[in-house]
Amino acid sequence: MPFNHNDFYHRTLLRHVPSHCADALDVGCGGGSFARRLARHAGWVDAVDTSAEMIDLARTRSMGAGNIEFRVCDLMGIDAARYDFVSCIATVHHLPSFPDALERLRDSLRPGGVLAVLGLYREQTVSDWAISLSAAPVNLLFNAVTRKQAEVTPPVADHSMTLADIRTDADRVLPGHRVRRHLFWRYSMIYRKP
Ligand SMILES: C[S@@+](CC[C@H](N)C(=O)[O-])C[C@H]1O[C@@H](n2cnc3c(N)ncnc32)[C@H](O)[C@@H]1O
Repeated sequence: MPFNHNDFYHRTLLRHVPSHCADALDVGCGGGSFARRLARHAGWVDAVDTSAEMIDLARTRSMGAGNIEFRVCDLMGIDAARYDFVSCIATVHHLPSFPDALERLRDSLRPGGVLAVLGLYREQTVSDWAISLSAAPVNLLFNAVTRKQAEVTPPVADHSMTLADIRTDADRVLPGHRVRRHLFWRYSMIYRKP
């Protein structure tokens, strides 16, 4: 498998799945790699993406997984107050409004449910750049080891928000959330609904 900066953080996100997770949702599921892992920790997984091509691919790759439903659906169309765990990996920056996307993700949780976002941030501060530069050799090494390219890549979008921008919106929409900066220009955001 080629090295994938998002898949690298799957285990980080899975640590936040509640112990009794009946219903989970993965938004922007792409080829379904996270949904398949999540299905081992949840009774049922809904996995949605706006790309019909990615949903077809995810279904093909997930034959045999009996507790996942993949469907074409926009984040803004997901059900409210339905899930114990919601993940959103490398997708939130595709939405036209970051705060609106966070609100919709939050509202899809049941009380006590957990939201886990993995996102990309734009470097702004000296420490942002230091971390990105320190990741460059690791990135080169991983890419060299896993030279093969993915056959189908999901749609991508530019990310323009800095960590400060992200925290400002999250403070308002997700009080009590925790944002952590990671290697490879990523951050994780964890929020538990009261
Ligand atoms: C960079 S890919 C990440 C895919 C997957 N989460 C992964 O980690 O491989 C972003 C995905 O979000 C999907 N997407 C974009 N806008 C969306 C929206 N409004 N609602 C749901 N999915 C969306 C795209 O079709 C794409 O598959």
